[in-house]
Amino acid sequence: MTLETALYHPVTIGDIVIPGNIFLAPLAGFTDRAFRSVCLSQGASFTYSEMVSAEGIARKSQNTDALMVRAEGEDLFCIQIFMPDSSVTARCLPRLLAFKPTVIDINCGCPVPKVVKTGAGSSLMRDPQKLHDIVRVLKEGCAIPISVKIRTGWDALSLNYRETADAAISAGADMITMHARTKSMGYSGVADWSKLADLKSYIMQRTAQSDRAHIPVFGSGDLFSAQAAKQMLQETLVDGVMFARGAIGNPFIFRDTLRLLTEGIQSPPTGLKDRVDAMRQQLSLLTHDKGERLACREMRKHASAYIKGLPHAAQAKQHLVRCERIADYESVFIQLLEIETKDASFVTS
Ligand SMILES: Cc1cc2nc3c(=O)[nH]c(=O)nc-3n(C[C@H](O)[C@H](O)[C@H](O)COP(=O)(O)O)c2cc1C
Repeated sequence: MTLETALYHPVTIGDIVIPGNIFLAPLAGFTDRAFRSVCLSQGASFTYSEMVSAEGIARKSQNTDALMVRAEGEDLFCIQIFMPDSSVTARCLPRLLAFKPTVIDINCGCPVPKVVKTGAGSSLMRDPQKLHDIVRVLKEGCAIPISVKIRTGWDALSLNYRETADAAISAGADMITMHARTKSMGYSGVADWSKLADLKSYIMQRTAQSDRAHIPVFGSGDLFSAQAAKQMLQETLVDGVMFARGAIGNPFIFRDTLRLLTEGIQSPPTGLKDRVDAMRQQLSLLTHDKGERLACREMRKHASAYIKGLPHAAQAKQHLVRCERIADYESVFIQLLEIETKDASFVTS
């Protein structure tokens, strides 16, 4: 077995086996059914919903329900929930279980003030006992594997990821993912992968001394290329990687990573035709779910990301962010493909 093939492998979470270790992270506002389907078709091993309010689930809010529906062909699927403490946990469970998640993930990383001030998201990093109680209530209430997504701490002076992971694991958590930034960093600065290496070795030692089965540790933070994913796996020895911003407008990152990890082949930059095909696929799925008008609006941010870095991207973006109908998108796609053909014949003539 080459080093490359050893880096890509199945992952066991509780009693569920996920066929690979290249996951799509939860991304509020992005990881809807349509985008998840596109990522799966590009090779993502496992996908997460956008974060869902446990309170909204308990109240059977229709908007909340829509976030928990599986995509077409999405046999394995994680629903991520956020909540301030265990008081809502048991109440949300019957409705949550009706959507048959493969894994339930608890958000301990969201830095958005609206969420943090309720005590949810990264606020839980400040009170690991609350996290412990949430995991315990979930474990007592269902047989589904429970995972937890944390940050390294609240700020640089309170790096308590070991203690937070301990609190979750002692209550029965089956997997830990860490975004290697503090809450106070938000999404800026550089993710500190050395903390991922530390957490992985800490959890391995911890489980070796107990009767707990292997608990996978996943890494998140600054994964913007296949090469970065390989580097994180090699440097930190985490069990798998979770692509977030790196997958927005670039679901091909899954295909490229799979190729790099299994065959050692570096992929060239994705061509325009593949990007347009993926946008068409995504827009069509989104239209099916939300109708043409809303789908076209929601597709704008994705479409802008799909063309980022290409020649003529700035002009095309001006048109894309005004698209109201599928036909509007089609005319931009056709123009982009025509320009590319002309540019190519200019270069080769
Ligand atoms: C727009 C956006 C939305 C996000 N939404 C969620 C979320 O709902 N739940 C969560 O746990 N993390 C969320 N995250 C964090 C990502 O899952 C990921 O951990 C983080 O972006 C670090 O990875 P990156 O540097 O490779 O993007 C979000 C991040 C962004 C940029």
